[in-house]
Amino acid sequence: MKSKPILETRGLGFSYVDGTQALVDVDLSIPAGKKIAFLGPNGAGKTTLFLHFNGLIRPDRGKVYFAGQEVRYDHASLLELRKKVGVVFQDPETQLFSASVRQEISFGPLNLGLPREAVLQRVHKAMQDTGILELQDRPTHFLSYGQKKRVAIADILAMQPEVLICDEPTAWLDVKHAVQIMDLLTEINGEGVTVIISTHDVDLAYSWADYIFIMKSGRVIGEATPECIFYNRRLLEEAELQRPWLLDLYEELQRKGWVSAGLPPKNIRDFLRSIKDKEPA
Ligand SMILES: Nc1ncnc2c1ncn2[C@@H]1O[C@H](COP(=O)(O)OP(=O)(O)OP(=O)(O)O)[C@@H](O)[C@H]1O
Ligand SMILES: [Mg+2]
Repeated sequence: MKSKPILETRGLGFSYVDGTQALVDVDLSIPAGKKIAFLGPNGAGKTTLFLHFNGLIRPDRGKVYFAGQEVRYDHASLLELRKKVGVVFQDPETQLFSASVRQEISFGPLNLGLPREAVLQRVHKAMQDTGILELQDRPTHFLSYGQKKRVAIADILAMQPEVLICDEPTAWLDVKHAVQIMDLLTEINGEGVTVIISTHDVDLAYSWADYIFIMKSGRVIGEATPECIFYNRRLLEEAELQRPWLLDLYEELQRKGWVSAGLPPKNIRDFLRSIKDKEPA
């Protein structure tokens, strides 16, 4: 995929202290300015990889590069990296710690040393975009899991990173808020931010992402555009992934001659456009 890489790994390997090998020889290159999804079964290594992207985990083997520069692990370099690469944790409970929602989201921008007005503005916008303005005075501790997830996203949004990484952004969200968050991630990407997610939702990955990486057993076993990924049946089988329902339906209707030939639809709107106008039999 043509575009300068923003994040790269070379020969990345990592084992947890108990000996679990979570990443094995991962070589990848994430294009800047795109919407990227990682798919793969539980335990594939997605979260472990994401924690390498902003230096929260230091590799045992290999290297990570941000914008062509090798990631360094001294305090000052890590602070710089974390301003640019924000990770929303899979489990919001490990990310949130402040008393109220507003305090939680203000903490990062305050630490950047921004003027008070700028902090207030960023915090307000992050809460508005994630639909949590009405929760701002509540202690994070007593929020529902889905509400915490939205606070965790607002937390990182307020830092305005160049790369926004969301580990399973829609897990635990109701449908309305899941759609709202994915629309927001699309909007943020439109402003030039590289957005990376992990998900188990193949329909979401297919219609949202520009490019997909497939992980299994600590390795990247496939990468391509969504159309190429989901036409590769061998890869889907190996990764234990279903096909998006839209593709299955499209193919069936194509066999019957009910849809026009062309690129497979990415969403319902494209799909409806591909249906041929036919007189009822
Ligand atoms: N703190 C830890 N200590 C020991 N092993 C761990 C730890 N965290 C993760 N692992 C192991 O590392 C491997 C990769 O886990 P990881 O959480 O990165 O996978 P994942 O792809 O994010 O999975 P999921 O889809 O369930 O979120 C798994 O075998 C997991 O059990
Ligand atoms: Mg995970």
